[in-house]
Amino acid sequence: MAERLSLGAMPNATEPSPLRDEIAGIPVARLAREFGTPTFVYDAARIVQRIRDLAAFDVVRYAQKANSNLAILDLCRRHGTRVDCVSAGEISRALAAGFQAQGAPPPIAYTADIFDRESLDLVVERGIYVNCGSPDMIDQYGERAGRRDIALRINPGFGHGHSQKTNTGGEQSKHGIWHEQVPACLERARRLDLHVSGLHMHIGSGTDLAHLSKVCGAMEDAVRRVGTGITSISAGGGLPVPSRAGEPAIDLDAYFELWNQSRQRIEAELGHAVSLEIEPGRYLVAESGYLVTEIRAVKQMGRNTFYIVDAGFNNLPRPILYGAYHGMSIAPAAGASRERALREVVVGGPLCESGDIFTQEEGGFVLTRTLPDAGVGDYLVIEQAGAYGFAMSSNYNSKPHAAELLIEDGRVHLVRRRQSVEDLIRGESIPPRG
Ligand code: LLP
Repeated sequence: MAERLSLGAMPNATEPSPLRDEIAGIPVARLAREFGTPTFVYDAARIVQRIRDLAAFDVVRYAQKANSNLAILDLCRRHGTRVDCVSAGEISRALAAGFQAQGAPPPIAYTADIFDRESLDLVVERGIYVNCGSPDMIDQYGERAGRRDIALRINPGFGHGHSQKTNTGGEQSKHGIWHEQVPACLERARRLDLHVSGLHMHIGSGTDLAHLSKVCGAMEDAVRRVGTGITSISAGGGLPVPSRAGEPAIDLDAYFELWNQSRQRIEAELGHAVSLEIEPGRYLVAESGYLVTEIRAVKQMGRNTFYIVDAGFNNLPRPILYGAYHGMSIAPAAGASRERALREVVVGGPLCESGDIFTQEEGGFVLTRTLPDAGVGDYLVIEQAGAYGFAMSSNYNSKPHAAELLIEDGRVHLVRRRQSVEDLIRGESIPPRG
């Protein structure tokens, strides 16, 4: 990747980014002064609005892998979502945020392709609803659980995502039960006294309406294979969020209508009501989040100007992983001039790795971005950082995890304090000598 990055930066035809003074009504400079940088800031009202956008679905099940901070889980719960978990840790978070272990529809679902030993113990002990993504899960659960309802996650044989790495369907994907194996899995379940009450399909993350719509027909076929026991179907997540100016938002009414028609055909065939779930992660939280960074150096490298900020791919790995595009804006330091010319810049972070660039496309090619002129002490705000930002962050280069703030009704809440150096080395030890 280092070699590719040494290629000259290619200009990128995007809208010039604006100055940004505030987030959810609170000045960026004040947030940075009080809480330091880098810091993730979430606007609760955005999340609530996004939950409301999906009210036509019977169940909105938040895929917490996108952002599992307890305060976000609590906010989603207070606004009526259920929650999807993929690990024992995520189940523990859901319980800590006040979700009940059991209920109808299940407040918590565990969706995975395997059980590790901790998660199997936890779902059995707490009676958590399980969505099995492999025949082995059915066996392992059936041997421990006794008579229970389960869902099957089906791989319909096709998938699509914003990157090949987020495509979760088809033969190259490890996810779900292959659609042709549904009858055999039903038989397995029956032998173990498990009752398949739900079917689920998630073809990928950041896909589009054309691909998502294909899932409805695949779901109808799968329900036919299972028969009358099905009482709920899940459309999975994957709703895209526009990241560049002028990109259209997904037509949610059209999407719901497609699923509703499928659901009605299924109900007519089965002769009873079927609940329709959706399982978004990105859609609910991406746009609520901002990563506030401080510019710590402005460097000229040949023809390229670099803004080097104090956050890196340890905080937000989406650009280095997928070439993901994030909007950016400059928040002037307190008292600094707001008269700024625009310039073409590359934005990078502090890590000792040349891929630590926020303005790159898939494959590691560096791009420039049109941003206001800025200097050391100004803030650079990375937008749409609410989904798969903190959740995928690491301690690479021994960088502590960032702080997280939630702004709700004009009040700023510190919902995760910045990690300290003590936190960073907790649990490590040097073997005694002699
Ligand atoms: N349900 C299942 C079973 C999933 O695997 C996922 C995402 C979702 C729901 C939520 O998908 P969403 O609505 O957020 O698209 N780290 C990547 C995204 C990975 C998604 C993994 N699974 C990124 O930053 O784009």
